[in-house]
Amino acid sequence: MCGIFGCVLREGKAAPLLHEALKRLEYRGYDSVGEATVYNNKIYVKKDAGKIEEVHAIENLDDLPGSVGIGHTRWATHGGPSKVNAHPHLDCTGKIAIVHNGIIENFMELKDELIDEGHVFVSKTDSEVIAHLIEKEVKSGLPFVEAVRNALKRLEGSYAIAVLYAEQPDMIICARKESPLVLGIKEDACFCASDIPAFLHLTRKSVVLENGEIAILRSDGYELRRISDGAEVHREPEWIDWTPEMAEKQGYPHYMLKEIHEQPQAMRNAVRLQEQYLDLMATFLDRAQEVFLVAAGTSYHACLAASYMFSKLAMRTVHPVIASEFIEEYGKALNIDTTILFVSQSGETADTLEALEYARNRASTLLGLTNVIGSTLTRVARAYICQQSGPEIGVAATKTFTSQLLVLAQLALRLAKKRGKVSQSEIDYLEEEIRKMPSYAEEVIARVEDKVRELAQKYYKKNLFLFLGRGISSATALEGRLKLMEISYKPSLAFPAGESKHGPISVVEEGVPVIFICPRDETRKEIKGNIMEMKARGATIILIIEEGDEELKSLADDYIEVVKGVPEILSPAIYVIPLQLFAYYVAVLNGLDPDKPRNLAKSVTVK
Ligand code: M6R
Repeated sequence: MCGIFGCVLREGKAAPLLHEALKRLEYRGYDSVGEATVYNNKIYVKKDAGKIEEVHAIENLDDLPGSVGIGHTRWATHGGPSKVNAHPHLDCTGKIAIVHNGIIENFMELKDELIDEGHVFVSKTDSEVIAHLIEKEVKSGLPFVEAVRNALKRLEGSYAIAVLYAEQPDMIICARKESPLVLGIKEDACFCASDIPAFLHLTRKSVVLENGEIAILRSDGYELRRISDGAEVHREPEWIDWTPEMAEKQGYPHYMLKEIHEQPQAMRNAVRLQEQYLDLMATFLDRAQEVFLVAAGTSYHACLAASYMFSKLAMRTVHPVIASEFIEEYGKALNIDTTILFVSQSGETADTLEALEYARNRASTLLGLTNVIGSTLTRVARAYICQQSGPEIGVAATKTFTSQLLVLAQLALRLAKKRGKVSQSEIDYLEEEIRKMPSYAEEVIARVEDKVRELAQKYYKKNLFLFLGRGISSATALEGRLKLMEISYKPSLAFPAGESKHGPISVVEEGVPVIFICPRDETRKEIKGNIMEMKARGATIILIIEEGDEELKSLADDYIEVVKGVPEILSPAIYVIPLQLFAYYVAVLNGLDPDKPRNLAKSVTVK
């Protein structure tokens, strides 16, 4: 998730506006920053790795000439944070400059094709292909707008782009597919941005660019067209009456709620992994004598769920371990034949890094799954995957958890393929289901949010909650408990439902809410038994069930129905969504700020 901005002014300098707008978009990424302007038919660029003000202190971003420009603040996905990988990217002639937010899935094929045709690439990014593709189309004689449109048709993946062309210095072309892009409209200026706060101080008139649309911005107005056939589109600007604070959170009252709603898009990014990284990781996991998954907090819950995925799909035992316990529990047993996948959203959690360092000294193979390229984990791991969720600001991990689950599921499936443990038809089915996960998440959020809010209203004063699940859903239960506990401070318990009778059931008395996570899976008979045990002790039964599960509904005091047909190994990423929302609304109803829970930090860098 990067931030892009473009402005076309009738008069005045674009650069200071770009600078200010990028500061307002810095929450979307801050690995590197860059700006390009056009003046006297020449493109001028300044860019470097680092935060905006750090780069500005050295480069003076404000002295670029001209009234038309584009800018970018980066959250690295392809290619580490560095000056060459910073946007804008240029074509071979230096006349075309682009900024991009999104992921181009087929960039390797396109890059090979363009290199064969003589194009010279300077960065490791997926984005640079866009500049060269446009250059190729321009060279074929097409007018510039058509050249951009044709180039876009070749891209697979997601994008929001803004393009400058030295030969047409009075305009910017921008376009989007999946990644967000909004236009800001003024009498004497037009802007495009990843998000409204970038231009809210300049204008409150805005047009949302829809998927598959391209816009031509000039200082006196804008034109919209469809990318597919170039047909004109008419859309009038809307008036935005958000306060600056609301705008930063895109109208949501808290980052946590915004990030819960961002899950479908984050999942889309998580299913766009480069094949060769998945393959490399699967090869390491296949060869290892022993595999550990090591993480803390929510990331540990993703590892726990993954241990079921690996054993069920790839028939490979992997040991999920809490990072702070890893050295004590397994340290002495580590050796060159051990492979460890460290999972950490931030890539900087002290407990996880300590385990990493220890394992490095024992010559084990270190792998990483993280959201932050350039973090310590990515620097130390032999191979890593970036989950590509964009920055998560709320202390409670939400979108990064569901994306971790999707990456781990793809890894387990890849390993299963490698080891010949699943049939082709099952692989095809699961790959298709993985692709459907963003839409499932979208549907669930839309369907359950009101009902969850009502339940939160009913239960927010309760002082004890239990979360139970069986099989892979025991990880979902733990995560639901952690969400509620960390932001609403409600004492809560979670454990595999089968464990209840070995002790925890003694805390249950009349009216204690017990939340069961019940996808339709092989544990159904047993989970029904566990529900009955709790009911018999007066617990209030709240079930998270598949849509239309009448049998379980009849056992519940309250229930939330999610979508039908989610495969068991993918179910945590869907069934956790109502639990995230429940935690959020309970915290808010208790007058707490879910974004800043007491005693906690987003990145726990102390042991
Ligand atoms: O950045 P990491 O994934 O390594 O962070 C691990 C935990 O600190 C983190 O998941 C924490 O538990 C969250 N606050 C949970 O919402």
